[in-house]
Amino acid sequence: MNYRHAFHAGNFADVLKHTVLTLCIARLNEKPAPWRYVDTHAGAGRYDLTGDEALRSPEWRAGVQRVWDQLSKAPGEVQAALQPFISSLRLENPGETLTSYPGSPVIVAGMARTSDALRLCELHDESAARLGQSMGRDPRIKIEQRDGYEALVAYLPPPERRGLVLIDPPYEVGTATAKSDYAWTLRALRKSLKRWPEGTYAIWRPIKDLEAVETFDSDVATLAIEQAGLPPEKLLVADLWTRALDSGSPAPGCSSSIRPTDFTRSSPRSSHGWRKRWISRRRVPARAAGACRAQPRRPSLVRLTGTASTARSTR
Ligand SMILES: C[S@@+](CC[C@H](N)C(=O)[O-])C[C@H]1O[C@@H](n2cnc3c(N)ncnc32)[C@H](O)[C@@H]1O
Repeated sequence: MNYRHAFHAGNFADVLKHTVLTLCIARLNEKPAPWRYVDTHAGAGRYDLTGDEALRSPEWRAGVQRVWDQLSKAPGEVQAALQPFISSLRLENPGETLTSYPGSPVIVAGMARTSDALRLCELHDESAARLGQSMGRDPRIKIEQRDGYEALVAYLPPPERRGLVLIDPPYEVGTATAKSDYAWTLRALRKSLKRWPEGTYAIWRPIKDLEAVETFDSDVATLAIEQAGLPPEKLLVADLWTRALDSGSPAPGCSSSIRPTDFTRSSPRSSHGWRKRWISRRRVPARAAGACRAQPRRPSLVRLTGTASTARSTR
C-alpha cells in the first residue's frame, strides 16, 4: 500500500470532508450526553505544512490556504458554516500563518469533551506511529493498528449510543473503475447499520468516475433506506467540484455522503420510487459549467452541490 495522506493533507477534498465532520461534531456537542467517534482510516493525525511531503505536493495551497486567505471576504452564511472547521485550524495555528494541518483525529479530539471517546484505526506502519505521536496520551482515545473495516463492526454499537463513524479510505486498491474500497465500505456499512442503525456515518469518496459514484451512492441508499429503514431525507450528499470531469485532473471532485441525525429538518417523504428518480440527470447551472458537465441527481435525498466558488441545495 503506497498511499500517504501527507501528500494530500489540506487539499480541497480535506476541506470539504473536515467541514462536514466539524459540523457533525458541533451538532453532537449540542447535547450534554457523551458520544463516541470511530475513525476507520485515521491517517497520521497531524500534517506539517512546512515538511517535505507538503512542499513536494502543495495541494493544500489550493485548498485550506485559499479558505484561510479568503474567509473574511466570504458571505456570512459561508463563514458560519466554516466556523467549527476554522476553529480547529486556529487551535493548530495560533498565528497568522498556516503551518500545520489537523487530520480528522486531531480535529475531533480538539472538539471532544472529557466524557466523549475516540476509537482510531490506522493500518500503515509509519502513519500509525505518527498518529500515536499526534494524539499523545489521552484517556479518551484508543488507537489500534488494524483494519478499520473489521474493527468498526466490533466497536458497534458504542456504549454511549450516540456518535459518528468516519469512513475515509484511500481508494487505491483495485482497477480505475472498481476500487475495492467501495465494496469494502458497503460490506462494513451493511453490518454496521444492522448493529447500530441510529448512528451517523460520514463516508468520503472521490468523484472521478461518475458511473462508479452513482452505483456507490445507489448502493448506500439501498442499504440505508431499504435495509435499515431510514427515511431518504436522513441521507445527505455534499459534492464539491473544482474542475471538469474531462480535465485530466486525477480528482476533479469529491463528496461526502452522510446519514445525519437531526441534521436536516425536512418533512418526511415516502421513499417509494427513489431508485427510479435517481436515474434522472440534470444540466448544471451556467456558473458551474466550467466545473462539470452533468451531475447525478437523486431528488428524494438532500444533495448539496458546489463548485469551489458556489454551493447550493439542489434538493
Ligand atoms: C485518506 S487517509 C485518512 C485521512 C484522515 N481520515 C483524515 O481525514 O485526516 C486514509 C488512511 O487509511 C489508511 N488505511 C488504508 N487501508 C486501511 C485499512 N484497511 N484500515 C485502516 N487504515 C487503512 C492509510 O494508511 C491512510 O493513512
